[in-house]
Amino acid sequence: MLENKPISHDGTLKDEKPVSTDTLSMVEVAPRKARTLWHTFDASKEFTRPWWKASSDEPGTCHWLSFQLDGIEVARCKFNLIEKPHPTPQLGDMPEGQLDILAFEVAASTRRRGIGRKALELIRRRYPMPRLTALNDDAESRKFWDGVGWIRQEPNEVFMRSDRVTYSER
Ligand SMILES: CC(C)(COP(=O)(O)OP(=O)(O)OC[C@H]1O[C@@H](n2cnc3c(N)ncnc32)[C@H](O)[C@@H]1OP(=O)(O)O)[C@@H](O)C(=O)NCCC(=O)NCCS
Repeated sequence: MLENKPISHDGTLKDEKPVSTDTLSMVEVAPRKARTLWHTFDASKEFTRPWWKASSDEPGTCHWLSFQLDGIEVARCKFNLIEKPHPTPQLGDMPEGQLDILAFEVAASTRRRGIGRKALELIRRRYPMPRLTALNDDAESRKFWDGVGWIRQEPNEVFMRSDRVTYSER
């Protein structure tokens, strides 16, 4: 059962190579409103992308996950979940729905140690049915989706090709 509590980032695993991901845990985090903004995660130098900042947008249908090793937050994920048949022209039939990863980041000091791969496994275990997809932003992160064996959904038109593409687990 997922807990619903905010996570503080109070350390790094910098000196602990290699990392065992066997005890990686996943909790769902709910945004809290303070004045006019929704806060989901604490600010942290380990999470360098702008995706985790407080926002004036209503949470809507988005979900947020925090992954921890030994009480230290090592990855974050934001996703949209549609738990009903959801065919799209690009992805085809998705009779069991779609879990679309909108943002996914592993703590800067713990990258390339299997945490991203293991985090995807935990998401799949928690949500066994929907098809997993992800929006990819840049050439560097393509290596990750390629590395875990996901399929790059190429736009048909050559001139539209860019690093901002959708990946799909199958
Ligand atoms: C992309 C990201 C999530 C990968 O997380 P990670 O924990 O470092 O990835 P893993 O260690 O689980 O890597 C799994 C496989 O992906 C591939 N891979 C991951 N990062 C790679 C890189 N920088 N270069 C080449 N291959 C890479 C490898 O095949 C790797 O398997 P291997 O280590 O057995 O060779 C992490 O680098 C990150 O947070 N980047 C910034 C944010 C981002 O780009 N998010 C993704 C788009 S939303």
